[in-house]
Amino acid sequence: MERTLILIKPDGIQRQMVGEIISRFEQKGLKIVAMKFLQMSSELAEKHYAIHKGKGFYDELVSFITSGPVLAMVLAGRMAVKQTRNLMGATRPEEATPGSIRGDHAMFTGQNLVHGSDSDENAEIEIANFFEPSEIVNYDLATGSWIG
Ligand code: RTP
Ligand code: MG
Repeated sequence: MERTLILIKPDGIQRQMVGEIISRFEQKGLKIVAMKFLQMSSELAEKHYAIHKGKGFYDELVSFITSGPVLAMVLAGRMAVKQTRNLMGATRPEEATPGSIRGDHAMFTGQNLVHGSDSDENAEIEIANFFEPSEIVNYDLATGSWIG
């Protein structure tokens, strides 16, 4: 069972799309194992986006992600990284497939509603940036899970 870190970015909070976004992940079958509503500090933002340091959009990225509260969650499920990134759609909303979160609801790359880890390795690093191990809940869904 893989895990991923998802953030509903400040534009998603401001647009009151928390329920809409979470429901897409739930309906797909991903399991919520941790959740936190928070205002990210610059330190946390710089850690989270360390991989993008030096890129042209880095300052804008850190400034945007700290511009208001975010909702951080850990989702678990088979191939969680790939499944969530498919649901999110391409980084650039004009390239995101209709039916995806960004394809249906975003217009700008800098305001694309949601972050999702891009590899299992980065997911574990990002999860540790936001959550203590004790804040992640280990449980089974009553619906169980399919094998395959
Ligand atoms: P994310 O990390 O937010 O899930 O998005 P992603 O993997 O699809 O895209 P990534 O390449 O990791 O970029 C992180 C975020 O930086 C902003 N960005 N702006 N102006 C630009 O060319 C540009 N490129 C990326 C986006 O907000 C993107 O989600
Ligand atoms: Mg990324």
